Amino acid sequence: MYPERPAGIAFGGDYNPEQWPREVLEEDVALMREAGVNLVSLGIHSWALMEPAEGRYEFGWLDEIIDRLHAAGVAVDLATPTVAPPAWFVAAHPDVLPVTREGIRIGFGGRQTACSSAPAFREATARLVRALGEHYRDHPAVVMWHVHNEYGAPLGECYCEHSVAAWREWLKATYRDISALNDAWGATFWGQIYTDWSQIDAPRFNHTAVNPAQRLDYARFSDGQHREHYALQRDILREITPHLPVTTNFAGTVNCKSADLWQWARELDVIANDHYLRAEQPDNHIDLAMSADLARSVAGGAPWMLMEHSTGAVNWQPRNIAKRPGEMRRNSLAHVARGSDSVLFFQFRASRFGAEKFHSGLVPHAGTDSEQWREVVRLGADLRRLADLRGSRVRAEVAIVWDWESYWALELDWRPSVDLTFRERVDAFYEALWREHVTVDFVHPSADISGYRVVVAPSSYLLTEASAKNLHRYVEGGGNLLVSYFSGIVDEHDTIHPGAHPGALRELLGLSIEEFHPLRESETVALTGGDTARIWSERVRPAGAAAVLDFAAGPDAGHPAFTRHDLGAGTAWYLATAPVTGLRGLLTQVLDHANVSRPRGLPDTLELVRRGAHTFLINHGDEPVTVEGVTGTSVFDGVRHDGPVTVAPGAVVVVVETLRSQGEPS
Ligand code: GAL
Repeated sequence: MYPERPAGIAFGGDYNPEQWPREVLEEDVALMREAGVNLVSLGIHSWALMEPAEGRYEFGWLDEIIDRLHAAGVAVDLATPTVAPPAWFVAAHPDVLPVTREGIRIGFGGRQTACSSAPAFREATARLVRALGEHYRDHPAVVMWHVHNEYGAPLGECYCEHSVAAWREWLKATYRDISALNDAWGATFWGQIYTDWSQIDAPRFNHTAVNPAQRLDYARFSDGQHREHYALQRDILREITPHLPVTTNFAGTVNCKSADLWQWARELDVIANDHYLRAEQPDNHIDLAMSADLARSVAGGAPWMLMEHSTGAVNWQPRNIAKRPGEMRRNSLAHVARGSDSVLFFQFRASRFGAEKFHSGLVPHAGTDSEQWREVVRLGADLRRLADLRGSRVRAEVAIVWDWESYWALELDWRPSVDLTFRERVDAFYEALWREHVTVDFVHPSADISGYRVVVAPSSYLLTEASAKNLHRYVEGGGNLLVSYFSGIVDEHDTIHPGAHPGALRELLGLSIEEFHPLRESETVALTGGDTARIWSERVRPAGAAAVLDFAAGPDAGHPAFTRHDLGAGTAWYLATAPVTGLRGLLTQVLDHANVSRPRGLPDTLELVRRGAHTFLINHGDEPVTVEGVTGTSVFDGVRHDGPVTVAPGAVVVVVETLRSQGEPS
């Protein structure tokens, strides 16, 4: 259920008028009208104002703000402020303060200062949310609910006494019998057998590695506790305002490791994502695209909301680099191209005080006589021209497997190499596909993937038997699966699948691994065909698979590095290392084999995405780019194209109707 209002693309962001004198509200409302702001998120950190003392709810100050916004035609995404429990509450219930894995109880003075499992926090949450919901149940300005803020960030797991009590209940419900838990956790290893539930602690800091199955379960449990806290609020709000969608904003789909967003997605009415550029990372617009594609994927392909990004610099990175002219526009339109029906920011007016006073806003400290404000006004106008886009979908022929459980498991202690990280391989494959102008979806390995021409499994270390069977069926049915090393190794308890690696995928890939040979830091080994590889080498023993490339040097010289295995109507490919420059070339072979359509001959600085009838051409480079075969009308200037379109450096062109690119079948 996407919010019905505002119509078109939502534009605006977090708004914190409580930090300003009343007259600034008047100025803000006028500026919102000037820029075309049509949605703001209110009250995210306002518990202390909404409930200044236990049970005393005061919404008058907020009524005044909401009424004023409503009169100006600005809709409200109203927050439940549970991310910021007030000082009086924490002082009365110090046991709600979360405890880190190292055993440090955090103090008041930041935010996220209550444990999702703490009974006092849950009770106070329920009372406050009910009061808030009842008060605004009929207010015409309120179009949706914004529960909490970025669950799990920055602290995904809490180790307090309430968490441990809830954890034991969770374990009882999951395993029923303590011997089943001992089996699942491999508790005979290091003699960790439990004879009573009360002996089980959270996997807190230890001077050595802690049982990985216990840690994996704790990650599942902890994420579930946040979801319970969310669902508690969602259920109250649904009861009072069944007509309003409820969501919570993710702390960045690709960055918030502690939240399994496939599970979260089932609980939300609309997916809302926050994304901040890693300012110093070269080509950080690729990470942005990945975050947006993952948001669309967890939304099941439905339009989602970009709940927060920044107009310029953030304030929490080592060097907070301001966006260059045009960058905010490119960023915003890239999110829209990839399925967002909103462009919202943190925050409307930059704060004067507090921890975020050096963070950009729509209205900067410099005021409206600024490049920043002029860009904001222009963006508002652009988005109004894209109103028709609302609700339309992006179609992808290629998918990348993304599983948070595998992410958690892969990055526990004592793996064969510290260079094995989840994001390292996913990013490498995503970037290669982005540069090939291929739009991708992300999928869970158990999902229905039969509609994709190619599925890539970059770091699928943890793969259940059921998921492995799903991949098998996909290939037999005609799919192309490309698996990279260290995949299909363990089951859901971090126990190695029986036999040689990769136990879950041996048959499907037509090979086994005799030995892992991780490379030294900065070591490379030659491959046949001229490329070199890094990070990983291993001894592949084909059993049906054919070698496409071999290792030409190193511990596995003369043995396969890249294989293919035709199975049923499809092909399973396996890449046993990390090519230094040739990943894109290898991927191209697979894409061509699978007839994946994509434009040819374009530089990899140009982002090309189709959404419904709209084609987005975003030039991230310093040179103009000409795209051939463009037919349609340019949305921003109304120019009709029937042939080449030139996109100036840093510019964005959106063409509605059809586009046929060079070399692409018509
Ligand atoms: C987000 C958060 C916002 C604000 C923003 C600053 O993670 O949800 O409240 O702090 O970061 O970049």
